[in-house]
Amino acid sequence: MKLNKDYWERRYEENKLGWDIGKISSPLKEYIDQLKNKEIKILIPGAGNGYEVAYLVQNGFNNVYIADLARQPIENLQNRVPTLPANNFFYGDFFDLPNCKFDLILEQTFFCALHPKDREAYSLKMLELLKTGGKLVGLLFDFPLTEDGPPFGGSKEEYLEYFKSRFTINVLQRSYNSIPPRAGKELFFIFTK
Ligand SMILES: C[S@@+](CC[C@H](N)C(=O)[O-])C[C@H]1O[C@@H](n2cnc3c(N)ncnc32)[C@H](O)[C@@H]1O
Repeated sequence: MKLNKDYWERRYEENKLGWDIGKISSPLKEYIDQLKNKEIKILIPGAGNGYEVAYLVQNGFNNVYIADLARQPIENLQNRVPTLPANNFFYGDFFDLPNCKFDLILEQTFFCALHPKDREAYSLKMLELLKTGGKLVGLLFDFPLTEDGPPFGGSKEEYLEYFKSRFTINVLQRSYNSIPPRAGKELFFIFTK
């Protein structure tokens, strides 16, 4: 199975969106709610229907960028958040994103959607995309990694292998405020470049 554009576009066409919770998740909401500077440049990679994008914009963050390989969620977001300029939407592969620097990148069910062989490349690309002092923040699944996926699981120990030599690990712990279906199955993290 190739996790390419056709695969993801088909998932949207067939409405097989098991990851889509229909609203912003509580951990991301709580993190966003304590941000003071609304000017920061934020990227949401593999945004899907990106409920956190609408939430950010409603709360005065306008420097928000979206990347997704699938057309349908990009179009959905453009319709739902029409105040964001067209240039803030990148329809394409995250790994082809131009080297523009962000203050904050929010992760939610994008890492686990990639094949595990791409995890090292994900870490390197995040390093490239962040400003010095910029943060990669979000959620990583905490269940055993198997061949079955997406979503592909992983563990704190495994994730540290990809990130600890490149980022300061500020937080990587069991999320205390997960949505009920994910309780006990995800880690909240903050990594600083
Ligand atoms: C499991 S969904 C998660 C969507 C969203 N983050 C959420 O939590 O609802 C994974 C998303 O990543 C996108 N995606 C997968 N591989 C990608 C890649 N290489 N570059 C950009 N987007 C990608 C898919 O199209 C899909 O929208």
